[in-house]
Amino acid sequence: GIDPNFDDNREHVGEENGLDVWGPVDPPEKLGIHGAHVAVDYDICIADGACLENCPVDVFDWVDTPDHPESEKKVEPTREDQCIDCMLCVDICPVDAIDVDAS
Ligand code: SF4
Ligand code: F3S
Repeated sequence: GIDPNFDDNREHVGEENGLDVWGPVDPPEKLGIHGAHVAVDYDICIADGACLENCPVDVFDWVDTPDHPESEKKVEPTREDQCIDCMLCVDICPVDAIDVDAS
């Protein structure tokens, strides 16, 4: 699953669509972790979709990631600032691709 200490253990390599990106990034195979308060490890996400479908405040949008080995789309935590820390997405993801920093 996603490393909950990614912000210490990974390099902040920039931003995409206004969200922090944590490396290593080497597209299309390595896409890194996207987001900060709500963070999604794009290299783990298999596009299950349960997070996006069930988030009570609609934090996530799909983004296309052609030729990524795990899935051709990922959930971007586009509206992470709206997150209410319910932890549903963290609990429901079958591959533990999401970390929410509720502290
Ligand atoms: Fe949405 Fe809850 Fe996940 Fe926050 S913790 S992104 S509110 S499902
Ligand atoms: Fe991806 Fe897990 Fe959501 S696989 S689409 S982060 S439920």
